[in-house]
This record gives sequence, C-alpha cells and structure tokens, in this order.
Amino acid sequence: MTAEFQSATENQALKDVIISSIERRNGISFRDFMQITLYHPQLGYYSSVGEKMGPRGDYMTSPELSPIFATLVGRQLREMWQSIGEPTLFQIVECGAGTGSLCRDILWWASAAAPEFHATIHYTIVETSSAMVAHQRSMLAADSHHSKVDWKLEVPDDVTGCILSNELLDSFAIHRVMMKNGSLAEIFVRWSSEAFVEELRPIEIGDVSRYFDRLGLSPGEGCTAEVNLQALDWMRKAGEALRRGFVMTFDYGYEASDLFAPWRTDGTLMCFYRHNPSSDPYARIGRQDMTTHIDFTSLITAGEDADLTTVGLTSQNEFLERLGIQDALSPPAEGTDLEAYYARRGQINELLDPAGLGRVKVLVQSKATSNTPLAGFHGGTDA
Ligand SMILES: C[S@@+](CC[C@H](N)C(=O)[O-])C[C@H]1O[C@@H](n2cnc3c(N)ncnc32)[C@H](O)[C@@H]1O
Repeated sequence: MTAEFQSATENQALKDVIISSIERRNGISFRDFMQITLYHPQLGYYSSVGEKMGPRGDYMTSPELSPIFATLVGRQLREMWQSIGEPTLFQIVECGAGTGSLCRDILWWASAAAPEFHATIHYTIVETSSAMVAHQRSMLAADSHHSKVDWKLEVPDDVTGCILSNELLDSFAIHRVMMKNGSLAEIFVRWSSEAFVEELRPIEIGDVSRYFDRLGLSPGEGCTAEVNLQALDWMRKAGEALRRGFVMTFDYGYEASDLFAPWRTDGTLMCFYRHNPSSDPYARIGRQDMTTHIDFTSLITAGEDADLTTVGLTSQNEFLERLGIQDALSPPAEGTDLEAYYARRGQINELLDPAGLGRVKVLVQSKATSNTPLAGFHGGTDA
C-alpha cells in the first residue's frame, strides 16, 4: 500500500491521537472514541477540509439532493410565522448547517415566493465545525441574502421563530451499551498492538444507567443499543432558548419501543464513506462519517422537560406530501426541458423514498403558540 493511498483512506495523525488517549486513560468509552474521531478540533472528520455531504461526499442529505426540500420547509416556516401572528422579526436558527444549502435555498424561496415573510427573517447558523463555517460563509458570500445570516456556536437566548435541524442529532457521539447476563454494560475501546478492540465495562455515568429506567424498557439480552445523551441535552437547551415558536427536527430514528426492539440486536450505528455503508467504526479513521438513529420517545420527553409541546411526529415522505411536493410533479407542458423535468422527478422520488430519505422523521414541538394545526401534519398550505 502506498503512503498516498493510506492517507486517502485513514487519518494517521488522528489515529495516533486516539491511541495515545486510550493508553493514557487505560481505555476510552465508545462515546469518547466517536467524539474524537468526528469532532477533534483539528483532525476530526467534521474539522477536516473535503466534501462530506452531497454527491461528491460520503452521504446524501435532503438539502443537498434538491432545493425542493427547502421550498417545502420554507412553506412550513411561513405557516409557523403566520400562526404566531406574523411578528416583524422571525428568527430561523439552523443548527448543524453542513454546506449551508438549506439556508441559501430557504432564503431564495422566501424572497421569490413569500416576500412579506422574507422581510421578517433573520437566519442564524449554529455550527461547531470551523471548516463547515468557512464553507458556509464562502457559499453565502456570493448570495444577495447573506446580510440576513449570522453565525453562532450555540443557540441564542430568547428565540422567537423556529429552531431547525436536519440530520444533526444523529451525528452526535453516543454511548454504546450491551445487555449481558441481565445487566447493562458499556462498550469501551482499547488498542491491542495492531487493532482497536472493544471490551465491556460497568456503566459509570448515572444518566446512561437511568436512561432505560425512564423509558420503562431495556434492550434484549445480548443486544447492543445506543444512548444519545447529547441529543437530549441539545433538545432541553433548544427548548429553554425558545421564547415563542417551534423546534423542527429532521432525523433518522424511531420511537423507543421500535428502536430498542429485541430483534434489533446490533443497534443502529452505521458508517459512510463515499456513499458506501459499513458497520465498522474502526475502519477509515477520520475519513468516514458515523451516525446512529434517534430515540424520538426520549427526545420528546426532553422537550417536555423544557416546556415544549409536541405538535407532531411523522415521516418526511408524509410531511412533504402534505406540504404539496406533488405540485412539482405536474406533467410536463409542451416545450418543457424534458431532461430537467425527469431529473426533478428523480429528486422528488428520492426525497420521498420510504426506504431512503423519505423515512427520516420530522418532529415539531412548540412553545407559547396557539394550537393551530400545521400543514406538514394535516395538509393544506398555499404554494
Ligand atoms: C450530518 S451533518 C448534516 C448537515 C446538514 N444539516 C445537512 O443536512 O446536509 C451534521 C452537521 O452538524 C454539525 N455539528 C455537529 N455537532 C454540532 C453541534 N453540537 N452544534 C452545531 N453543529 C454541529 C457538523 O459540523 C455538520 O455540519
């Protein structure tokens, strides 16, 4: 294997950091392994230059697939704005914005289709990766709407508007646990001369051992499961930061009884490298994404801890269909560019695919709003 090939498939400097952390601490939890691998400030997957999401990256997300997604999210945001009485300032706070495409395309849609709404928007991107912020800034700098956008490291206080995220929570580092001989143990990572090896240790963190008590269920004997404490913490903070409006979360996941069903023996951890899925988190260190599914039951409870009320939980395909995605599928009129039409149709099918992006869940929660039903859950908003 040449040195060039090695550097393309593995980040040796990052691997050395992980190994020395393991040796210094006599092993680290899988959570710490995942945190360093994805988010080490200089060497982590999300800190390094290079495309992550999109056709030339490692995995596809809805905002990268097509601006049609932003159009429909924009429609839902406009209806949220109307439902709280059309305030003169409506904050959209997008957390974990990736390339910044969703921000750009929502602002473009609003300026063209809903100018009264557009005039009230202030858009804050909350992003921890400086490499991603650099990408977002350079893309939005060329855009006429960039004066509406600012960047923060945390959700600002007193938001009136909507706190929005797409595939943020499923990228957080998680604790991996296993049910063995009737008790729960945590997976730790050690280095054994040539390879990373896993070992089970007693759980040390109270919030991890109490997690399943609060749910009133536990993983089946021999099953591995993930505990995403950071997602719950994020939701509580988002709820506390919201003064009036909504939290809208798009993410892969299930309700707890489904996520922790006894037949799901290996949990949901997946890695992606150039659109190839794998279940090996120890391959391609720093060059592959890692992701796990969200437990929406615990996420909803965390929102309730911060006074959020659940408006609805549904799948992306149902949400987008209720918001009128079929409008974009009307039969081509005479003189239509058929190539563009079929490309668009392909993108819509991918956004709705029940085995792909269409099975992403959409959770909307609210605070200090009237109970007006939202179109994403009940249908019926204007284009
Ligand atoms: C899986 S990507 C999704 C990107 C984008 N939303 C999309 O759908 O294409 C996760 C993004 O969240 C960012 N991120 C991770 N942890 C974060 C945190 N605690 N706060 C804000 N952004 C975070 C990452 O840097 C990355 O941009």
